[in-house]
Amino acid sequence: MTPYIGTATSRVDGRDKVTGAAKYAGEFKVQNLAIASVVSSTIAKGRIASIEIDEAMKVSGVIAVLSHKNRPAMADNDEAYKDDVAPEKGSPFRPLYDDKIMFSGQPIALVLADDFEIASFAASLVRAEYEEEPHLTDVYRKRDDAFALESPAKPRGDATKALATAEIRHEAEYYVPIEHHNPMELYASTVIWDGDGKLTVYDKTQGVQNVQRYLCGIFDLKPDDVRVMSPFVGGAFGSGLRPQYQVVLAVLAARALKRSVRVVLTRQQMYSLGYRPAMIQRIGLGARTDGTLDAITHDAITVTSQYEDFHRHETTWSGLLYKSATAAYAHKLARLDLATSCDMRGPSATTGVYALESAMDELAVALKLDPLELRLRCYSDRDQNSGLPFSSKNLRECYRQGAEAFGWHKRSPAPRSMRDGDELVGWGMATGIWEALQVPITVRIALTANGHAEISCATSDIGTGTYTIMTQVAADALGLPLENIDVRLGDSTLPQSPVEGGSWIAASVSNGIVTTGDAVRDELLRLAQKMPNSPLAGTQPGDVTLAGGMVVAKKDSGKTVSIADAMRHSGVDRIEQERSTSFEHDGSHAHNTHSAIFAEVKVDEQLGVIRVTRIVSAVAAGRILNTKTAHSQVMGGVVWGMGVALHEETLIDHHFGRIMNANIAEYHVPVNADVHDIQVIFVDEQDDIVNPLGIKGLGEIGIVGVPAAIANAIYHATGKRVRDLPITLDKLLG
Ligand code: MOS
Repeated sequence: MTPYIGTATSRVDGRDKVTGAAKYAGEFKVQNLAIASVVSSTIAKGRIASIEIDEAMKVSGVIAVLSHKNRPAMADNDEAYKDDVAPEKGSPFRPLYDDKIMFSGQPIALVLADDFEIASFAASLVRAEYEEEPHLTDVYRKRDDAFALESPAKPRGDATKALATAEIRHEAEYYVPIEHHNPMELYASTVIWDGDGKLTVYDKTQGVQNVQRYLCGIFDLKPDDVRVMSPFVGGAFGSGLRPQYQVVLAVLAARALKRSVRVVLTRQQMYSLGYRPAMIQRIGLGARTDGTLDAITHDAITVTSQYEDFHRHETTWSGLLYKSATAAYAHKLARLDLATSCDMRGPSATTGVYALESAMDELAVALKLDPLELRLRCYSDRDQNSGLPFSSKNLRECYRQGAEAFGWHKRSPAPRSMRDGDELVGWGMATGIWEALQVPITVRIALTANGHAEISCATSDIGTGTYTIMTQVAADALGLPLENIDVRLGDSTLPQSPVEGGSWIAASVSNGIVTTGDAVRDELLRLAQKMPNSPLAGTQPGDVTLAGGMVVAKKDSGKTVSIADAMRHSGVDRIEQERSTSFEHDGSHAHNTHSAIFAEVKVDEQLGVIRVTRIVSAVAAGRILNTKTAHSQVMGGVVWGMGVALHEETLIDHHFGRIMNANIAEYHVPVNADVHDIQVIFVDEQDDIVNPLGIKGLGEIGIVGVPAAIANAIYHATGKRVRDLPITLDKLLG
């Protein structure tokens, strides 16, 4: 019944991706295109006193220079700038709106020219004078002024008291710095001026309809006047959830010039958009000598801009995951003179679980207990915050299969007790957790009598493999070969989809395809039953399935009518159905994905150089749609987790309030030479509750837990606990 779901299907867009046929937002060829270069502020806070554009305008080939002084009209109220996933509180950023500077690198002018070289040269001639105001970009200098957010989850019992009286106590502070997404594709928009005021916008985004609504709000346009497309996205990881400022600049310029415009940010300018908020965390764990947890306290400070309050539920993972009689959380927000922080793969869990799972390792050391054994003693079959049972949770099996594949039982517990020549060997582990979210979505299926189907939905494929899994699910739902399925997505004119984020699209769109597929099946049965002497006469819709190009009775596979015959008999050559699917959360179960990560590091004793030589990630995430793309998702998450543990850190010169390593030479990420053996295991997990197909999503679980597993392995190798990321060799030797 399901020949494609669950198989290792290669990406249907793979050939287009590797040959370059798949175009990104900045690559569409357009006639008479004006190319823009963004001028960025050099101060972090203050006002633009004057802006001098004459020198730039003198350059041959320059068409215009736009600034807050001469831009076309744009909305003057916050509501217009609130996109679907904007923070609840605050006043969204308005590019080129006025003279106010709120972060270094803020766009202050846009130079438009016949080509990029001319535009960027002319941009270097734009001179701004500023009235500077004092700025603050260092979270440690702001921590005492951070303000408290409402507690994200209800506390349980009196955790402070339980911690104070615990037999064994561990308390420590952990730090994760600001990190930037650095997707391969630059932030870009190509706006096609269609002549009659209508716009077609190719944009790098995780949500075409979000961008469309946003542009309509800012420029007072009708939905029919703006079509936003993102057929391919070269990575985004959260950076494209909210509309990026270059799309506003591109539309602003197109309206000013009545001409098509392209704006592509430089790699350096990509650091002037959102980032993973830095996080100072304090964890307290109180336990009995047998490893029973009695208290969990988790305090966090994260950062945002001066103008919007971005945050997630950073601390709640701690109380959710493990059985503990008491738990308490506190979360404060520090406003800095930076752009607003934003979601970045596994937002809140990547950082929060890093602290929790590091602390659990430290508690295991204090208890003289194997770290895996401690997790098993605290294992919970319920979400400890809500008290709800999980729709499914096969974390136990992740621990078992992961430990076995890794050889965990051969670990010698004492730090510095394992060696390989000049290198100290360390083995560490951690748990990962993420949500299994789902969102309302609409899918259209158009089936033609020759047995081809087009599946349409305005969702995105940010590189995760959405095209491919949609093709697989549709092929199974319609009983057609993969080659007969065409998927259209990334176009705001298609049936509605929220942004692709939160690991929610695979589950949502797959179940959406099945819902609409059922409607197609019903229509086919109706047509089949109109045929004289129909073998399916009297059969109910639920009693037939589509397979091998036929409508087939489930209980008697001899009773069939071919799709082609059914349609031709009624003179129908196309069936089109569109259905919306929503997922009622009836509040009876918690929906989560889980993982167990085992890491081996080798540390050069003299130099402190750390190599992550082996990682085993065992994941329980419901039904796996495609073992090949799923493997890639988790492997990518593991590699990124290595970056969080060892490499990534946005460095700010607090004197200037400016990011110093705004490039991928000095902002370190793992390269091929850093990545060794990664084994991904998908643990069988059937879930009949979460949604009809039992899918939970995989985009984010792969990164969560990895930083702690590596940090714990480094402690085991060296006996040194580094609690501020990234763990660089200076911290190890210092
Ligand atoms: Mo994801 S950080 O919701 O793109």
